[in-house]
Amino acid sequence: MYKIVKAEKLADKIYLMDVVAPRVATHCEPGEFVIVKMDEKGERVPLTICNFDREKGTITIVFQTIGASTTRMAELKEGDSFMDIVGPLGNPSEFVHEDLEVLKKKKMLFVGGGVGAAPVLPQVKWLHEHGIDVDVIIGAKNKEMLILEDEFKAVSGNYYPCTDDGSYGWNGMVTTKIEDLVSQGIKYDECVAIGPMIMMKFCCLLTKKLEIPTIVSMNPIMVDGTGMCGACRLHVGDEIKFACVDGPEFDGHLINFDEAMKRQAIYKTEEGRKMLELQEGDTHHGGCGVCGGDK
Ligand code: NAD
Ligand code: FES
Repeated sequence: MYKIVKAEKLADKIYLMDVVAPRVATHCEPGEFVIVKMDEKGERVPLTICNFDREKGTITIVFQTIGASTTRMAELKEGDSFMDIVGPLGNPSEFVHEDLEVLKKKKMLFVGGGVGAAPVLPQVKWLHEHGIDVDVIIGAKNKEMLILEDEFKAVSGNYYPCTDDGSYGWNGMVTTKIEDLVSQGIKYDECVAIGPMIMMKFCCLLTKKLEIPTIVSMNPIMVDGTGMCGACRLHVGDEIKFACVDGPEFDGHLINFDEAMKRQAIYKTEEGRKMLELQEGDTHHGGCGVCGGDK
């Protein structure tokens, strides 16, 4: 069992929990995710790790209530436990393996949207702890929906909150803030954009035009998170990849977001899943990464 030592509501339908999971906390890196199962009846929910404390042996997860399982998860309180937390899964963010001296010379921009701001935090924090302060744009519908503001302020070089309704910070979507910063003459070498699919799509369309290489996290299309269900299959350039096994982070300029979003909608129904299995044959599954699966 995995004990919850902190449970907090961050905004409408968005919850943060610190959970004792020492083995995950010891080994995890920014970009990786866990699969959380509340109890026997709970679905497997893949969640990017939002923070970790190796000394305390805790990890932080942030989730939005979007279905029955996450709604039941939100009812858990400090002192309650999750039945299962599996991880760390997936691959760490690329910069974790880059030469620090090379990294220090780069001007990096991180963009988080809505609840997708949570997975941005461990990346910005890791870079800050390694002497690199990056620019951070966080977008939300309004001031009340903006999450983890103090945490971002503490580890960012420049922090730019944006709201769609102009109730706080920059008035407009994150893409308009990227344009604003670039128009001021700031030259970014790399961008990391994590949030809703539609946000990542439009960030990538813009950064492609601006010639800023961009990484995105395809966590939103995952379902079982083990390579077996086929939900997270996507084209990255000409290659077929699986977000949970090969990602979750990919070169955003190589992703066909329209295809991924359309496939995500089809996958939601039983009939749609059967049709995708027929069309995709042996390439429908990604393999668990251990046994080779059906790949
Ligand atoms: P939201 O709809 O409030 O959008 C957040 C911000 O994204 C907006 O404030 C805006 O700045 C930007 N945005 C939205 N649409 C845009 C567009 N068309 N063009 C440019 N910018 C745009 O976000 P939400 O409701 O909190 O989002 C929830 C989604 O985030 C879920 O679908 C979930 O799957 C996804 N998510 C993604 C990740 C990931 O790893 N990529 C992680 C957690 C959650
Ligand atoms: Fe099921 Fe990746 S989430 S195959």
